[in-house]
Amino acid sequence: MKIESKLVHAGDRKKAGNFIPVTTPIYTAASYFYDSMGQLDRVMGREEEGPSYARYDNPTNNALEELVNTLEGGGGAVACSSGMAAMQLGVMTALLDRPKRIVAANVLYGATVSMLMKILEPFGVETTWVDICDLAAVERAVSETKPGVVIMETVSNPLLRVGAMDKIAEIAHRAGAPLLVDNTFATPLLVRPLELGAGIVVHSATKYMAGHGDVLGGIVVSTDDHCGTIRTLSRTVGPVMSPFEAYLTMRGIKTMGLRVERQCANACQIASWFSSHPSIERVHFTGDPAHPDAATIARLFPKNLYGAMISFELKGGREEVFRFMERLRMIVRATSLGDVHTMILYPAMASHRDLSPKHRARLGIHDGLVRISVGIEAPEDIIADLDQAL
Ligand SMILES: Cc1ncc(COP(=O)(O)O)c(C=O)c1O
Repeated sequence: MKIESKLVHAGDRKKAGNFIPVTTPIYTAASYFYDSMGQLDRVMGREEEGPSYARYDNPTNNALEELVNTLEGGGGAVACSSGMAAMQLGVMTALLDRPKRIVAANVLYGATVSMLMKILEPFGVETTWVDICDLAAVERAVSETKPGVVIMETVSNPLLRVGAMDKIAEIAHRAGAPLLVDNTFATPLLVRPLELGAGIVVHSATKYMAGHGDVLGGIVVSTDDHCGTIRTLSRTVGPVMSPFEAYLTMRGIKTMGLRVERQCANACQIASWFSSHPSIERVHFTGDPAHPDAATIARLFPKNLYGAMISFELKGGREEVFRFMERLRMIVRATSLGDVHTMILYPAMASHRDLSPKHRARLGIHDGLVRISVGIEAPEDIIADLDQAL
């Protein structure tokens, strides 16, 4: 070979030796080489396992998919470029051969609401919004509209309401629709929706799974009956996760148990401190015995692991919230959640910015509402920072 060809080929396409890496490496290859055309034909025809092209499969992503699928107890998983890509794949899967109608919880992550209202509706997919904690209302909406899918979050954002997922799954199934659950806030450590009857689970892996604020990713997991469709849609449309993000997410998940336990314990202390603070009107926390869904939480969540998200209503409005948030020294003002560091967000300005003030008020998202994602720091430091800012 001349040097121009050596530049391109030397050193590449070596079979790995007789060893197995202890952790999964990052495979950046866009396509894969096989010894014979016959083998490539079998791989492309799915008669033999193996990657052929990065939009179809990637060994790093496949390892993450196997990990999350095992945690959620599913039939298969697909890693996506973001939580919203996972949500879109989940909804498209459910509706592909079902009626193009949705029953959705009326309090959902803002971008999910926007996706249903501003993207799917113009495509002719109608959504009926329902209070997911009112089972009679869910039953009525499902029997009246006969939807192709019912959508809810395990813990709603930002008011932290918890619907009776097992009962909602039964209602959906009776109408022939799968229940799709966004399990981002709970993680499979707290709640595993597929065990409670859901058909499809989505995660923003950006949050607790990756856990360190350096990944954008999502994952969709399902029971056996949806796996083939999800994989086909992903291979066709291509909202796949980058292998570097898959590597970081796998690395993050290894410590998710330790992180989430610590975050939940910290959140219990902070919520109880908030509840007696004179500047705070109301606290929303899933570990509060007086939570409006306490009976459902006791039934679905493990004891002492109630999640690490807290929302609270500051006396006053936007101005008081801005002043308080600007005074924080350690707690990070940023749009995300589930990271190792404590983060704070103003829903009216961030996650629910796209909704009109009237729509927000109808959902109970008041101008004084602040959401905090509790991190793994020493609880005394988190409380001290909140205290001086309040
Ligand atoms: C509950 C929930 N679901 C989905 C998403 C979307 O995830 P991503 O930002 O990874 O697309 C978010 C993002 O904040 C979220 O909070």
